Amino acid sequence: MKSVINTIYEAKLAELKEKVTTLGTPVRLTIVTVGDDPASKVYVRNKIRLFDELGLECNHLTLDEAGTTQTDLDTLADNADHPILFQLPLPNGLVAPDLPAAIDVDGFGSETLGQLVLGQNAILPCTVQATIDIISAHCGEFNFAGLKVAVVGRSNIVGKPLAIELINRQSTVSSFNSRSDLAAVSWAQFDVIVVATGSHGILDNSQFIEGQLIIDVGINRVDGKLVGDIKHHDGILSPAAITPVPGGVGRLTCLHVLGNAIKLVESSTK
Ligand code: GUN
Repeated sequence: MKSVINTIYEAKLAELKEKVTTLGTPVRLTIVTVGDDPASKVYVRNKIRLFDELGLECNHLTLDEAGTTQTDLDTLADNADHPILFQLPLPNGLVAPDLPAAIDVDGFGSETLGQLVLGQNAILPCTVQATIDIISAHCGEFNFAGLKVAVVGRSNIVGKPLAIELINRQSTVSSFNSRSDLAAVSWAQFDVIVVATGSHGILDNSQFIEGQLIIDVGINRVDGKLVGDIKHHDGILSPAAITPVPGGVGRLTCLHVLGNAIKLVESSTK
């Protein structure tokens, strides 16, 4: 799977570099973090590194956990005139402002998600796009119709928007969550299983069969090690293709932050 991910990464990066050189308008991004969540630090560093690599402006605003209020975040959003994202999770009950689609680089806002439900969206949440890329590479770009896909997880940032995008592409989608009776499910019936629960061990690699594509979206820290949602038993090699963690879906998501920022600039200049 690692080589498939690398191929997707290199092709997408080349495409984005080409776009940036022909765009003629600067691409800017502001990333807002509050406090010092260790995982957020890694994600944000990767996003900034990519913008730097392409000579683009990425402004990182680091706010103090103790002194930041919801009004501060809402004011930043109200005053933003270019793509902005609020890195999640936010501490102390703070929530990311509901951004208008024109500056919503994450694709998490109600306007962008409404467009997605209607099948009229310009952009997709980055992790959803990365998952779609992997399915396209493995199953064929034009083979989504009729594909039997299980989506395990119902978060607003991955599970729900992914299920909707797959429905838009005419896949046959089954949705599961932590309250589903997962032990009773016959996983062999699916072509693709996407696991995005943030709970390590919710499924394990012995449950899958040859020919299946398993996309592990989870990133968890267990005993100091980064692991996905799928538990890999020692000595059992699954016959299915399973994306690695780290170096799987997460490797591709920062490319889509840039891709979405470019799309927003393109649509603002039309
Ligand atoms: N935290 C984990 N993934 C994401 C993401 O895609 N966007 C934001 N804003 N925060 C995240």
